[in-house]
Amino acid sequence: MPSPTLLPVEVHLRPDELERALSADVRAGLTATPKVLPPKWFYDQRGSELFDEITRLDEYYPTRCEREIIERVATEVAAFGAETLVELGAGSAEKTRRLLDAMVADGRLARYVPFDVSEEFLRSSADALAEQYPGLAVGAVVGDFERHLPALAALPGEGPRLVAFLGGTIGNLDPAQRATFFATLAGALRPGDGLLLGTDLVKDADRLVRAYDDDAGVTAAFNKNVLAVINRHLDADFDLDRFAHVARWDAEAEWIEMRLRSLGPQQVHVGDLELVVELGDGEEIRTEISAKFRRERVVAELGTAGLDLREWWTDAAGDFALSLSVRR
Ligand code: SAH
Ligand code: AVI
Repeated sequence: MPSPTLLPVEVHLRPDELERALSADVRAGLTATPKVLPPKWFYDQRGSELFDEITRLDEYYPTRCEREIIERVATEVAAFGAETLVELGAGSAEKTRRLLDAMVADGRLARYVPFDVSEEFLRSSADALAEQYPGLAVGAVVGDFERHLPALAALPGEGPRLVAFLGGTIGNLDPAQRATFFATLAGALRPGDGLLLGTDLVKDADRLVRAYDDDAGVTAAFNKNVLAVINRHLDADFDLDRFAHVARWDAEAEWIEMRLRSLGPQQVHVGDLELVVELGDGEEIRTEISAKFRRERVVAELGTAGLDLREWWTDAAGDFALSLSVRR
């Protein structure tokens, strides 16, 4: 059996840079009205583990739906003939294994490069994948897909590239962020390269809210984890028990919002920023949007960036879509 090939891990977010970026986001977000924090900071080791636990909850349908689609269309995706598969926001890459099986069987895939902001989790999942797919060169990019996509242009290999962005994570960006994301991604791709994109679809509001407010409280713990990350990295003193998890459907924007509501008035100190944050009773910090899509919106946003839709697959219930588009 060939031995696993691990390409060097490319690190665009070293610990000092990560702390600078977190500091800037926390200062800007917690001095704004209303207060906001970007969702990328959920994902330290614990946050990544909590997300994986979310994917196994009865209420959280997106992972099951996307897995159902991938199982059905993996050979069609493999027929794209990618030499390199890059996966943005790869996490544990659990569903990706079904794609990799089909792409390895197709015979043209040479390398797999997961790209994620969560370094420790990324390294362990890249190691596991290299073990599991010894014929593949497995790399890893530690980076922020809102800042470091241009690095993709420098990946080795002359053959077609396929970028997978699964799970509906694109919905965690707002429309302006998505426009920048798609344009930058298209700029890093070559004509004929592909994007395999998972998008959660608009559906009944009750089901959506339940998916983001489960009975076991796993999503609540995931939401509050951002405060633990800020406590640890920036010497802050958030008391997680003094916040309540809130999930709300915004029917006009067609997105779920997760918020943390202050239980009583409180003062929080962020030591490293010499910042005192005042929160009123009931005041909320928005920690995530999770946009839900209709086909027309996905096609339009991709098209504006120069990505032409080639395939649109949904699960049998029509809850989630996986699309394949090609760089013009
Ligand atoms: N693709 C997996 C995991 C989704 S969870 C799935 O479908 O189940 C979202 C993943 O994106 C996490 O692993 C998180 O660390 C990563 N992520 C979130 N924001 C990011 C950013 N700005 N840049 C890079 N990775 C990010
Ligand atoms: C990663 N992302 C697509 C998840 C979502 O559904 O928006 C994150 C999440 N937030 C709460 N539950 C899961």
